[in-house]
Amino acid sequence: MGDVVENREWYLAAYCPEGVPTSEHLKFRTVSLSIASDSIPHNHLAVETLLLSVDPYLRGRLTGTLEGLFISQYQLNQVITVFGVVRVIRSKDSKYNEGDILLNRSAPVAEYSIVPSSDIARKIDATIGISLSDYLGSLGIPGFAAWVGIEVLGKPKVGSNVFISAASGAVGINAGQLAKIRGCRVIGSTGSDDKVKLIKEEFGYDDGFNYNSESDFDAALTKYFPDGIDVYLDNVGGKMLEAVLNHVNKYARIPLCGMISQYNKLMLV
Ligand SMILES: NC(=O)c1ccc[n+]([C@@H]2O[C@H](COP(=O)([O-])OP(=O)(O)OC[C@H]3O[C@@H](n4cnc5c(N)ncnc54)[C@H](OP(=O)(O)O)[C@@H]3O)[C@@H](O)[C@H]2O)c1
Repeated sequence: MGDVVENREWYLAAYCPEGVPTSEHLKFRTVSLSIASDSIPHNHLAVETLLLSVDPYLRGRLTGTLEGLFISQYQLNQVITVFGVVRVIRSKDSKYNEGDILLNRSAPVAEYSIVPSSDIARKIDATIGISLSDYLGSLGIPGFAAWVGIEVLGKPKVGSNVFISAASGAVGINAGQLAKIRGCRVIGSTGSDDKVKLIKEEFGYDDGFNYNSESDFDAALTKYFPDGIDVYLDNVGGKMLEAVLNHVNKYARIPLCGMISQYNKLMLV
């Protein structure tokens, strides 16, 4: 590899306070990046991107307001950053060597980048039989969120009736399996018939429904939870949460993992 690479990257061109972000807001460009030794500062690494995780919390970083958010905004013209798995090409930090595979908690969405080694969460041993994508999924933040929601906050018992929204998402597929391991009856909601099939056939859910084809959430919850809901892992908020509140049992627990149905709405604080 030469000292200069042609680098393709995604950057923020304009903030998007409400609605679905488009190519007006997120833009693609090709730039030249020097990875020559004297272009890499002390305690920095030149890395090649292997995998990136695109998660719902990133929506909050595109709004252009800091109010009410737990994470900072991307800067305009900045390459957006996400959790990623990268491979070291050149190192200016004695802790890391060329070829090391690393988990970067602030990986630029670019083919190559020069990053501070303080952004590295851990080294990954690629020889132990765990796929690299699992470090961003079940062993990453989505798996951790599912574990906190079910094991730490939900605390379901054998036979508990557990409901999980956004069941086919990164959190939902892990949460459903954790609840099944605890011996629960697990029902999920998701946005298409294919995804309902997926959660039942691949991810161990007992049953599920397509919320886009249910005009009456109250009726759907009555049908799927004749004995009420003991644990609701809420990933969507909004109308589904409102409906669930009418079906929870005494001492039910509602771990609030996220409210994705609200993320494109204008935030008034
Ligand atoms: N990923 C993480 O690391 C993490 C960590 C903490 C909290 N969370 C929260 O957990 C929730 C799920 O995250 P995830 O990473 O599992 O998401 P994901 O894999 O990106 O999947 C998100 C899913 O949410 C569903 N969705 C989108 N808009 C919706 C709406 N208006 N109403 C209902 N469902 C909608 C869509 O599936 P359908 O086809 O089913 O609509 C979509 O595929 C989010 O609220 C997120 O903020 C995520």
